[in-house]
Amino acid sequence: ALAPPDPGVLLAWYDRHQRRLPWRAPPGARQDPYRVFLSEIMLQQTTVVTVAPYYEAFLRRWPSVEALARAPLAEVLSAWAGLGYYARARNLHACAKAVAERHGGQFPADETALLALPGIGPYTAAAIASIAFERRAAPVDGNWERVLARLFAVSDPLPKARPKLRALALTLLPQARYGDFAQAMMDLGATICTPRKPACVLCPWQSPCSARAEGAPERYPVKAAK
Ligand code: ADE
Repeated sequence: ALAPPDPGVLLAWYDRHQRRLPWRAPPGARQDPYRVFLSEIMLQQTTVVTVAPYYEAFLRRWPSVEALARAPLAEVLSAWAGLGYYARARNLHACAKAVAERHGGQFPADETALLALPGIGPYTAAAIASIAFERRAAPVDGNWERVLARLFAVSDPLPKARPKLRALALTLLPQARYGDFAQAMMDLGATICTPRKPACVLCPWQSPCSARAEGAPERYPVKAAK
């Protein structure tokens, strides 16, 4: 059997190779929860490259959650034009109002309290809790799912495999640096453990990876027949 993957090995890789993205605070600096919230909502269903200029424009125009809460919805929707999935913009605004009104402009730190906000689902709650507040949480997105399915050669098809992948995610979490770990999983999935032609030779987890040991990393994650 292969040695289990060490989360510290991924964190060391992240320290050297993380993508410099506009919503990431410099290493060691604290993350503004509003910036994490804004970027995570925009990044649902939209690529990093498309999101970046919108993220910068929103932040310039509405630098705090209170500023966004005070903005007329019509202005938020028109600034969102081009990003698509407008329900996200409505939810973004509704959530900013709820944080301003119910929480005095401070995002709550725990996943359960975050989940109670409008427009915040399990993924976004875990992303904000881990990245902005260093809470132990796993924001499992498509990148996480692909990395996990390959590392552990999970042969159940998606979406049935989701509960198993989520359980594996929780076993893999480090003892600290939850925000970095979350984003390291995203970066590994986006740059090395890609859907097609993964760059296994560059992967910090090549030795513990079951899919690589089988010689067919692209087989995972298995998709249900359509
Ligand atoms: N996709 C969703 N959230 C992300 C993040 N914080 N960094 C990179 N890609 C992401």
